[in-house]
Amino acid sequence: MEKKVELNLDTYLTTKIIRIRSDEEIEALHEAGTIIKNGGLVAFPTETVYGIGANALDPKAVNKIYLAKGRPSDNPLIMHISNIEMLAAYVEEIKPSAKKLIEAFWPGPLTLVFNKSSIVPDCITGGLDTVAIRMPKHPIARKIIEFAGVPVAAPSANLSGKSSPTRGKHVIEDLTGRVDMIIDGGKATLGLESTVLDVSGDELVILRPGSITQSMIEAVVGNVRYDDHLKNKDATPKAPGMKYKHYAPKGNLQVISGNNDQEVIDFINERSLHLKAMHKKVGVIVPSHVHSQMIADIVKDIGEHDNSAQIGSNLFKILREMDELNIDEIFSFEFKGDELMISIMNRLNKAAGHQIIYLGEDKHGKD
Ligand code: TXA
Ligand code: MG
Repeated sequence: MEKKVELNLDTYLTTKIIRIRSDEEIEALHEAGTIIKNGGLVAFPTETVYGIGANALDPKAVNKIYLAKGRPSDNPLIMHISNIEMLAAYVEEIKPSAKKLIEAFWPGPLTLVFNKSSIVPDCITGGLDTVAIRMPKHPIARKIIEFAGVPVAAPSANLSGKSSPTRGKHVIEDLTGRVDMIIDGGKATLGLESTVLDVSGDELVILRPGSITQSMIEAVVGNVRYDDHLKNKDATPKAPGMKYKHYAPKGNLQVISGNNDQEVIDFINERSLHLKAMHKKVGVIVPSHVHSQMIADIVKDIGEHDNSAQIGSNLFKILREMDELNIDEIFSFEFKGDELMISIMNRLNKAAGHQIIYLGEDKHGKD
């Protein structure tokens, strides 16, 4: 399928859209790799979210990513590699702790920030002395990088300000006419972007939480801390990308934190009634077991309350659906439990612009 659309950019591209379901469709993957090698842009699935890939060593190609996404160019990109041998050329050194982490978690959803070697172009790092590198696990992503024969710079394949795409459909919506090729490989299973871990200094620091959690990392290398901004939203994040207000749905999203389910259900229902009376369209994001108790216009079941993998995989999809449905006011349950929920709440709280309503013992929603 080929689609042409007009852009706000001066030019627009013809985007070839190919739907594949395995890495055995060599011809398409070879074509994708060749486009990247020759300076073009290809959107493809990874196990975390979809990425827009360009030849990381070609500043002109990398610049096209910023244009396609409408993204500020001071925000550095992750270099994706398809095998460990590619790593050494782009980093100053691989410390023993980094080596252990690579053995434990690559290929997979862990991005490591190293001191960069001189051949990494500034356009990748936004002028920093460090470079973020990841080896994805998704077989389609790996084959495309292999065929490209170069490291592939790939931010999430959403337009700037929209949530990261976790389904081929999302990428087609955002990037048709803006990239040369879209490989629709179905669902990006994890649904949250990779954990970003800084291994460039003496201390190991989590800059962005993801599916590889603090305790998983600590089990391999000992003490690891979270970057200050992850505990105090007013601190400046070390990963430049974390400072932007990402993932914000069009509607006003608020997270409701209570002591028990009933308190949260009552609060949201009361607000929903009030807002509906004012002709506002209300959407709610809830765990499966309370779905039938909600009275909002749109009730989105995000998964079982204790299944963080399922909740992580559905979050961005549901935020996009709220946009499609033109919801004015969105309420979400807070999700608690295992460590992956910390990464989920990081994304959800950001999408809400940190509007979190804490229901006190006696308040019963009357704040
Ligand atoms: O799962 C993922 O990581 C996806 C897929 C496509 O691989 N990619 C992704 O890329 O989420 P992006 O560009 O949306 O996010 C990259 C994050 C940003 O927060 C950026 O600031 C940070 O990594 N980052 C990149 N290079 C960095 C560096 N040298 N130092 C600190 N943070 C860096
Ligand atoms: Mg992103």
